[in-house]
Amino acid sequence: MPTTSFYAMTNLPSAASATQPPIAADAAPQFVRLTETHRKQVTLTVDGAAMTALTGDTVLSAILLHARRVRDTEFSGEPRAGFCLMGACQDCWVQLEEGTRIRACSTFVKDGMRVLTRSLGVTGA
Ligand code: FES
Repeated sequence: MPTTSFYAMTNLPSAASATQPPIAADAAPQFVRLTETHRKQVTLTVDGAAMTALTGDTVLSAILLHARRVRDTEFSGEPRAGFCLMGACQDCWVQLEEGTRIRACSTFVKDGMRVLTRSLGVTGA
């Protein structure tokens, strides 16, 4: 199971951020990398925007090192940044462009990965 113990959360998302895109350049990211900066860099896209991460990062960690939230809940539209961070709560579902849904907190990044934070429909789990 991936862990995120080498990150610190800056604070929780607010309802006010619900109107911002997931990757808001002007917003402080949710996580700050504290250590392990020597790992190999990979590039992925999130909602079409290029993003760098380090080998061993989870998708959730990679996104929250750049943004305030991982996705918006399909029920209320509220921003979500994951809850358990260990694959139990299902608060971090995102989708790969090819259609597979993944838990961002328990899926490691891969170079060239293409992630969507807004669902296009379920084709896998
Ligand atoms: S944050 Fe709970 S399953 Fe991913």
